[in-house]
Amino acid sequence: MDAAPNTAHHVAYTINGVIRMATIEPWVTLLDLLREEFDLTGTKKGCDHGQCGACTVLINGIRINSCLVLAVSRSGSVVTTIEGIGTPDQLHPLQAAFVKHDALQCGYCTPGQICSAIGLISEGIAKTRDEIREGMSGNLCRCGAYIGIVDAIEEVLAAAPDANSLP
Ligand code: FES
Ligand code: FES
Repeated sequence: MDAAPNTAHHVAYTINGVIRMATIEPWVTLLDLLREEFDLTGTKKGCDHGQCGACTVLINGIRINSCLVLAVSRSGSVVTTIEGIGTPDQLHPLQAAFVKHDALQCGYCTPGQICSAIGLISEGIAKTRDEIREGMSGNLCRCGAYIGIVDAIEEVLAAAPDANSLP
């Protein structure tokens, strides 16, 4: 019997400032690479179908649903996950605002909400509360913490109107 063909691919990413490499099958998503290979479980798997936003990370500064990205397709990219944003002693302004505005309950959606909000601010499109709501509509919260989430983003946006003014 013929041996199964070797379909594995080598990938390399800079994740939260650290170069990470792995050998993976071509069907592995970036979400599974982060969680299963690199143990970066802050990025959550909700629907695994691009519908909930729980898996949002930043690739080269742009927010994206990592469950929809085949990891081999973006090898060489710079990825930021929630583990690379703020520290327990020095929260990112959005993290601090989420705490202040009670913008979470179970917290499952929160890493994706924070990454998405950073992307939203850097896009520079959302200026009003309605535009924040529209821009964050891809990030669902089953606990219904939407009012606090928008309050938090609105406050940070007012204080730091573009990503360059965020720490
Ligand atoms: S897990 Fe990726 S959008 Fe839901
Ligand atoms: S805080 Fe529970 S899903 Fe958003």
